Amino acid sequence: MSTTVTVTNGMEEDYLYSPDILNELNFDHCLATYKPPISHRYPGEDLLMRPLCLSDYDRGFIQLLSQLTKVGDVTKGEFEDQFCHMKSCSDTYFITVIEDTSSGQVIGAGSLVVEQKFIHHCSARGRVEDIVVNNQYRGKQLGKLLVDVLTLLSKKVGCYKTSLECNDSMVQFYSQLGFVKEEGQNYMCQRFKD
Ligand SMILES: CC(C)(COP(=O)(O)OP(=O)(O)OC[C@H]1O[C@@H](n2cnc3c(N)ncnc32)[C@H](O)[C@@H]1OP(=O)(O)O)[C@@H](O)C(=O)NCCC(=O)NCCS
Repeated sequence: MSTTVTVTNGMEEDYLYSPDILNELNFDHCLATYKPPISHRYPGEDLLMRPLCLSDYDRGFIQLLSQLTKVGDVTKGEFEDQFCHMKSCSDTYFITVIEDTSSGQVIGAGSLVVEQKFIHHCSARGRVEDIVVNNQYRGKQLGKLLVDVLTLLSKKVGCYKTSLECNDSMVQFYSQLGFVKEEGQNYMCQRFKD
């Protein structure tokens, strides 16, 4: 599948993963309910859901991430190097964004990272991470949509399970999207940097 696609204004975009994978998702299998109905094909007026692009540095992607956690001063060169590194690990990074096409800004984002395994008959495990919606656009079901789409995507690319980490206040949010706190499982961590 091609990951460089000609967009309508005639410009070529370099996508992190093929937009065909997103377009082929069957949203009938989504886990949440949407009122009013929205989907990956229509997230709302002037909104477009698509894979992260190399040009998204200029669309405020890094500033959006700073609404989630510390990002630091990432230069355009650093962003592009990291993008190319992620893209070279094919079938691993599925960073998905929502763009407001009226302003040309990225207003929502989420990551699916797929780890290849030997266990479960050489299967793969998905991790949903870094879900963020610009505070001006919250409450429009976009956070829910991002998680739902990344979860469907993880199933489509063959993951035997998909997990995420969150604080207590977010458990209800993720529960409505099919995530379950597994009895006896703990999240443990060693931090080497802030
Ligand atoms: C969490 C976040 C992505 C939600 O985005 P959003 O687009 O406003 O969420 P939605 O409109 O899709 O909300 C869907 C549902 O989740 C609930 N919800 C939204 N944010 C919530 C939160 N922070 N805590 C608990 N529930 C929340 C909504 O009330 C809504 O419930 P409903 O379907 O019963 O009406 C957004 O608040 C955000 O970017 N927060 C900062 C970054 C962050 O904390 N990310 C999550 C890291 S684990």
